[in-house]
Amino acid sequence: MAVMKILVYGDPVLRKVAEPVTDFGPNLEQIAADMLETMEKGDGIGLAAPQVGLSIRFLVIGLPVEEEGVRKMITLTLANPEIVAESEELATCEEGCLSLPEINIQVERPEAVTVNYQDLQGNPQVLEADDMLAVVVQHEMDHLDGVLITDYLPMLQRTMMRSKLKRLSEEHASSTQG
Ligand code: CO
Repeated sequence: MAVMKILVYGDPVLRKVAEPVTDFGPNLEQIAADMLETMEKGDGIGLAAPQVGLSIRFLVIGLPVEEEGVRKMITLTLANPEIVAESEELATCEEGCLSLPEINIQVERPEAVTVNYQDLQGNPQVLEADDMLAVVVQHEMDHLDGVLITDYLPMLQRTMMRSKLKRLSEEHASSTQG
């Protein structure tokens, strides 16, 4: 297993529409393991493949939940996810992103979604997500289409954040040179 480098705002890979996953099995298992390790190290609860420079429709989730007083971890690996149903009810949550350090943005999304996807072996699966899991899966799926949480900001707030984002992408550019 290896920790991968997380791309930061300004990297063009984050803005690309990712390609479908076609290579299942050992290769994808390795990518999943590395991405989960990278996500945990970054204290994230989800990570999409484009964030580690892989422009494929793949994401991982590691969400701590408490059920009847028992803490456990929901770990999910989704290839080629597709939302097939969503609730009319919307919910707003303050979201962060490992590719946008120190930025939190209120994002409104459907409160529950049904997602068709393929597992690491390519078998079709269905995920019924609500609450925090619905937030994470929709956030990570946005990454597969090159969408970032800053895109949800109203125009005025986006303008106000422009200098902060510019600084982020410049810091990133200089750190890759150094
Ligand atoms: Co993100």
